[in-house]
Amino acid sequence: MSRPITPPPGPLPEPDDISANPSGNRLFADVLTVRLSRRTALTGGVVAAAGFLGAGAAGGEAAAAGGARQRRRLLGFQPVEISSADTLTVPDGYTAQVLIPWGTPIRANGPAWRRDAANTAAEQAQQIGMSHDGMRFFPLGPDRGLLVLNHEYADQLLLFPDGDAVMTAEKVAKSLAAHGVSVVEVALRRGRWELVDSRLNRRVTMATPVRFAGPVAGDHPSLRTGAEPRGTLNNCSCGATPWGTYLTCEENWNEYFATDDPSWVPTPEQARYGVTREGYGYRWHQGDPRFDLAATPHEVNRFGWVVEIDPRDPTAKPVKRTALGRIKHETATVTESRGRVVVYTGDDQVGEYIYKFVSAGRWRTMRATGRHPLDHGTLYVARFDDDGTGRWLALAHGTGPLTVANGWRDQADVLLRTRQAADAVGATPMDRPEWIAVHPHTDEVYVTLSNGPGFPNAANPRQPNPFGHIVRWRERHGDATATTFEWDIFLLAGDPAFDPSVPLDAAGMFGSPDGLAFDGDGRLWIQSDISNSSLNNPRTYYVNLGNNAVLAADPVTGEVRRFAVGPRGCEMSGISFTPDHRTMFVNVQHPGEAVATMDRPTPQNPRAVSNWPDADPDGRPRSATVAIRRRDGGVIGR
Ligand code: FEO
Ligand code: CA
Ligand code: CA
Repeated sequence: MSRPITPPPGPLPEPDDISANPSGNRLFADVLTVRLSRRTALTGGVVAAAGFLGAGAAGGEAAAAGGARQRRRLLGFQPVEISSADTLTVPDGYTAQVLIPWGTPIRANGPAWRRDAANTAAEQAQQIGMSHDGMRFFPLGPDRGLLVLNHEYADQLLLFPDGDAVMTAEKVAKSLAAHGVSVVEVALRRGRWELVDSRLNRRVTMATPVRFAGPVAGDHPSLRTGAEPRGTLNNCSCGATPWGTYLTCEENWNEYFATDDPSWVPTPEQARYGVTREGYGYRWHQGDPRFDLAATPHEVNRFGWVVEIDPRDPTAKPVKRTALGRIKHETATVTESRGRVVVYTGDDQVGEYIYKFVSAGRWRTMRATGRHPLDHGTLYVARFDDDGTGRWLALAHGTGPLTVANGWRDQADVLLRTRQAADAVGATPMDRPEWIAVHPHTDEVYVTLSNGPGFPNAANPRQPNPFGHIVRWRERHGDATATTFEWDIFLLAGDPAFDPSVPLDAAGMFGSPDGLAFDGDGRLWIQSDISNSSLNNPRTYYVNLGNNAVLAADPVTGEVRRFAVGPRGCEMSGISFTPDHRTMFVNVQHPGEAVATMDRPTPQNPRAVSNWPDADPDGRPRSATVAIRRRDGGVIGR
């Protein structure tokens, strides 16, 4: 029998946790309830990790090992303990090296970082940005490559010596320069990764010229402001194409736009994306009219896209690939099937959807004939049905409800209003879709669902769903271009003290899954993003779970082990590997932010919560990349 989990006095909502979806489409939690109930009836117990999908993986790996009982244990490290300490912990036998913290000059002759945050906007544009998030390693040769990483947002309190109580044009310009993407060459020398003073090193910021491609072309009326399009914003997760480019995802772009004009009201489309008169506290509009919704009404339409960056050409403009839709993109996970390129992407807000894009033809042929594979194709949105099947619903103008008669002008209109188009075709709302990863051997697709409010249903064991879960699916016949699939629940995250059906013990319990990646052996790496209002908080479900962590899961057995725990106030993100899997790069994002149960940094004491990684008594916490290696040089996790 399932039952609601034991409630603490009450979790605090985050902006992501507030739904902007009024569509009335059947909420995913309802479907989850049905599926869990059926599973419970079949097994007489709780959700098991190895469902009908995982059995496929077991079969393949067991065959190689000569039988299921001889299957090699996938998780070969000793789990680290839950911690609330201001340090990064890795397993015995591993080392962690801090690399490119916020403010590091990207060229040898660049401006040095100032620990009092007094660097100018022009200096910040030549330094590594803030809030390291999605990241990918592009090899250039043995032990050498390009790290490309997102800078999701700026903690403006830590960005300036005097905090963010007053915003000026110069402070806005510095915040713009702290956002965007960094491209840096790194090399492994004598067992340590070093930043290389390379001509390929580059910052893409909110001031970098960009261009638009696909159905919402650069001359589209909705994109016109009188100024050249610039910048990419709130870059969260990422992807990489088979032709060697980086895809960066614009997530909570709505939060940066605001106006002091009391007569401004959002259009229905803007309301659907959570664009509000107040914004979310960046107050860029007070220093730059570009971000004033009343003064520059079309600027906001230039955000919400997947952006392609060629890391090997520092002069190339980033390109907004509009055929992939306009949402709060969390990820752009690329796979191939029958020569076509397929991109999975999620929309991270409570009650939003999962999408995929399929190129119109074989990507090699398209590129050879001058058609970009991400500009021509079909965007779909997922519907998860109660019986364990699902369907990809096309968001194609002229099909289904997306007709001129129903007010849809053309495909560009469908893409500019992607959320509303997905509402119209009957997509399934989810509990905050985050990263998506494709199993390297089975092609099963896994998605993290960070958390959500849950919905009133007596049979629903996750009511609310504060811990999140991981869903997986298998495309029909293993073909990623298919329009139907089978799905299952891989894992309910959480703390068994509050939900006895959580199949995790002290070595692996966690909540709010966000980052997700497979390694070459098929280990599933999970990174948590518990909000700082919930972290360690006895008023929430997170009192026992400590700081945010990196975990590894066995997709067949469901075993989960904690691999790393971050310092105070951070989330863990950006997981990527070298091709030999002997270095894992992760990002420690926003250490030292205000944590409800700890403290709140101030301009006078920016170290109130964390002083990671420098431990400088006059410094301040900094987001950074960490290179994790085994002391014996072996494969990570094995
Ligand atoms: Fe930027 Fe949904 O995490
Ligand atoms: Ca994320
Ligand atoms: Ca996050």
